[in-house]
Amino acid sequence: MTELRMPKDFLWGSASAAYQIEGAHKEDGKGTSNWDEFVQIPGKTFKETTGEVAVDHYHRYKEDIALMAEMGLKTYRFSIAWTRIFPNGRGEVNESGLEFYQNIIDECLKHGIEPMVTLYHWDLPQALVEEYGGWESEQVIDDYVNYAVVLFDAFKDKVKYWITMNEQNIFTTLGWMTAQHPPGKFDNEKMYYVVNHHAFLAHAKTVLKFKEIIPDGKIGASFAYSPSYAINADPIHAMSKIDFDNLKNFWWMDVYAYGRYPKNTYRYLEKKGVAPTVTAEDAALLEAAAKQIDFMGVNYYQTSVAEYNPLDGVGPYGEMNTSGKKGTGEITGIPGLFKNPSNPHLETTDWDWTIDPMGLRYACKEITSRYNLPIIISENGLGAFDDKTEDNQIHDDYRIAYLNAHVYELMKAVDEGCDVWAYCTWSFTDLLSWLNGYQKRYGFIYVDRDEEGGSLDRYKKDSFYWYKDVIKSDGATI
Ligand code: NOJ
Repeated sequence: MTELRMPKDFLWGSASAAYQIEGAHKEDGKGTSNWDEFVQIPGKTFKETTGEVAVDHYHRYKEDIALMAEMGLKTYRFSIAWTRIFPNGRGEVNESGLEFYQNIIDECLKHGIEPMVTLYHWDLPQALVEEYGGWESEQVIDDYVNYAVVLFDAFKDKVKYWITMNEQNIFTTLGWMTAQHPPGKFDNEKMYYVVNHHAFLAHAKTVLKFKEIIPDGKIGASFAYSPSYAINADPIHAMSKIDFDNLKNFWWMDVYAYGRYPKNTYRYLEKKGVAPTVTAEDAALLEAAAKQIDFMGVNYYQTSVAEYNPLDGVGPYGEMNTSGKKGTGEITGIPGLFKNPSNPHLETTDWDWTIDPMGLRYACKEITSRYNLPIIISENGLGAFDDKTEDNQIHDDYRIAYLNAHVYELMKAVDEGCDVWAYCTWSFTDLLSWLNGYQKRYGFIYVDRDEEGGSLDRYKKDSFYWYKDVIKSDGATI
């Protein structure tokens, strides 16, 4: 038991994403997304799993939201599938797509759950990829804004919290540098920065539109933030920490919050010939949008260690790992700048992600001092193998320990002056892991399915009851 408490209006939540949860991949006029296509390529996902059925939330959303209500959840963060609204990315609106999300939103509101909508959680209409290369073309910017505006108009009276991009740093890195996500390109650094620039401009234009349509709403982007520690006090390593943060964190967060790229990194990329071109018009747009964002969304899973990487040292990217087993433990880095060894002080998950609850507090304090913005923790959670006993119990004490420690540090961050509005666990029900199939579970609700299928029945894990108590006591049971 702690003395600390979250404020009464704190948004205790949980999160999901359309492709990982909905299924119904061809129903009611939905178009094909880049992920529907990508998973068809042999070897790209664990045991060739797809989201065709996922956990069938499309048909079971009422049951899932009733479980959220039973738990006492205050907010539910979910994403909208662009291909349900515009099957071909633009053109005519598919009314049944809008209706599906209208129903989800109404179901949440009926139970007193605040809906939090992510506009883009990685599933891009395939038609736009075929037409002009998706994010590689600046044409995507207006199509994205148009899609967003349709949603703002449709849901402006019901949805207050909006997230433009989910983990732009991850979908671009895995899409253009490591080939693990669509479009499956490897080490295409020049295009990687172009694509990011387009995503920033799409985000910025959308933020400005949002403020016209929903002036009292709240909008921001969700960033996969992995704060770093220098391996020791040797200045060469302290320098590599700054280089790491600029290249891997501030490159995105500075644009969202200040509307400009970190200067040192821009210079470094310019020398390499891969810096994106920023016109005066772009700069003005990014800056105007940065002034309007309401919060920094943070998906927090782990921290990194930065160590100087001599020029002949570790190469930039590890092997792709779709084996579904533990991670490779590989050290990656940028020659001449940094490498990222593991942290000997921390334990790791079954997938070799470091477990660092204090890092969440560190992340909040860094954002507070660097940007002075409110924070929404839009994801945090533990991916693990769970076992269901014969009498349908799931004793996930390891997940409870993980979440308990993170929430405790978050409460300390609030106590130390960080303005945190929400905490969303990843995830509410078990769902599809992009690369690791259905064996890597994150939910409070166990879904009976594996790579081959299953009944899709839902079972409450022990962590369900733990979070219920946390919410009810404003965190006092932590
Ligand atoms: C981040 C992503 O937003 C989500 O889609 C993913 O499943 C989780 N992290 C876990 O890797």
